[in-house]
Amino acid sequence: MDITSFLRDNNLSTPFLVLSSIFFLLLVIKLAKPTSSKKLPPGPPGLPIIGNLHQLGRKPHISTAKFAREYGPLISFRLGKQILVVASSPEAAREILRTQDHLLSSRVVPAAFQQPSLIPHSLMWSDANLSWKSLKTLCRTELFSAKALESHSRLREQKLGHLLDFLHIKQGETINMEDVVFITLFNTLTSIIFSRDFLDLKDVHGTRDGLNESLHKIIEYGGNINDFGSFFPIFERFDLQGIRKETVKQYEKTFAYWEDIIEERRVHVNSPTWSSEHARSFLDRMLENKFSNNQIYQLVTEVLVAGTNTTTSLVGWAMTELVRHKEVMSKIAEEIKREVNTDKISDSQLSKLTYLHATIKEALRLHPPVPLLLPHKATETCEVLNYTIPKNSIIFVNLWAMGRDPKVWDDPLSFKPERFIDSKLDFKGQDFELLPFGSGRRICPGMPSGIKSVQLILASVIREFDLVLPNDADPMKLI
Ligand code: HEM
Repeated sequence: MDITSFLRDNNLSTPFLVLSSIFFLLLVIKLAKPTSSKKLPPGPPGLPIIGNLHQLGRKPHISTAKFAREYGPLISFRLGKQILVVASSPEAAREILRTQDHLLSSRVVPAAFQQPSLIPHSLMWSDANLSWKSLKTLCRTELFSAKALESHSRLREQKLGHLLDFLHIKQGETINMEDVVFITLFNTLTSIIFSRDFLDLKDVHGTRDGLNESLHKIIEYGGNINDFGSFFPIFERFDLQGIRKETVKQYEKTFAYWEDIIEERRVHVNSPTWSSEHARSFLDRMLENKFSNNQIYQLVTEVLVAGTNTTTSLVGWAMTELVRHKEVMSKIAEEIKREVNTDKISDSQLSKLTYLHATIKEALRLHPPVPLLLPHKATETCEVLNYTIPKNSIIFVNLWAMGRDPKVWDDPLSFKPERFIDSKLDFKGQDFELLPFGSGRRICPGMPSGIKSVQLILASVIREFDLVLPNDADPMKLI
């Protein structure tokens, strides 16, 4: 991508040119005093001032994978003043997420989420500090522990039942599976959190209300890696792309849906007759822990955004690969026939479906929903693979590149679940070839819940329906 199209694509041409001429001199002076870059990992040469910003493109996991092929498994580049480091081999990932995890597990907050009243209550964007630890412990206990998953299984099965009923009614029609899976996952989570559904399968585009749209916008703004202000601190407060302003607008719309429910339950939880046994949702537990509205808004938004988007993407890619590889779909259907003899597949029967599990691992290898992990930040200067990672560098691990590397996998571009049969390789953060949920302190806390939902949805849909593309479309052309 050239600079002109980069500026045009990012709506920056006019304000950028005016402001850049004002601050040009200042930046040049600052850049003339480089930080210690002697032993930085190698990387592509950049331009003065903007560094490699113009080379990143819209799919940075793909552009940085190309750089890794040229410069090696640990590369560095510069976006404005900011140094970024990307690891693209299991060895480099192990050093970052295990050996130096204690120094490399802080976060950089994307512009979209830089809301001063909310960030102190963030699980996803706080540094790995004490309040992050206690939020994580609460979420582990109430949302993700084996006991919590067991107690949510009825809700998960109920929402899946709604999805299957809906698909039966629509049988023969064209359905965007990602839309309906998103709604199913969203309602499962909001039932666990608020004891309520918010979205309606019959209104997939959320035209009746704007919650669906607001959440998708928050996800979109949060994932904008070409977030200009973060790389040019001097421009940060101008919010040139309007990312912060737009996100605040969508946050406000989203929070308005929850405000009344929170207030209503707060009255119950604060009443003298309240006892812990009355708690019926995660909201009640947050209120028992004296969470403010802002704390609740932040945590709930993060859990909903992190839990729905990733899981939907995985189901979508798994279905795409199944449509491309009918023989894999048939093998899963046979396995379900052999192992499940009840009307509905329940949570507890999933562990018998080993071929389905291998298929999910294969989908995660080729299509990791978070292809670069979330950005980590170096709290101290440290060494990785004998290179120096300066303090405050932003660190990514390119799972997408590792999943397609012929040095790591045989025949990496083929979809072959068999590679995981009779293999001990798992995605739980111990095997650095396959890290779709990360590893170490920042490993995804929602992994057990996400995987259970994916297994249940895929198994039930494959058992009850034939997945085909509309109008005889070519499945190999799906992207
Ligand atoms: C297939 C499904 C999922 C995948 C592939 C996935 C993947 C990830 C990844 C790669 C990270 C970042 C790890 C890092 O930066 O090192 C992450 C973080 C996170 N995920 Fe997931 N996730 C999934 C499902 C879920 C679910 C269902 C929830 C909650 C309901 C969830 C909640 C979170 C949270 C709160 C974080 C931030 C943790 C922190 O920063 O300490 N995820 N996830």
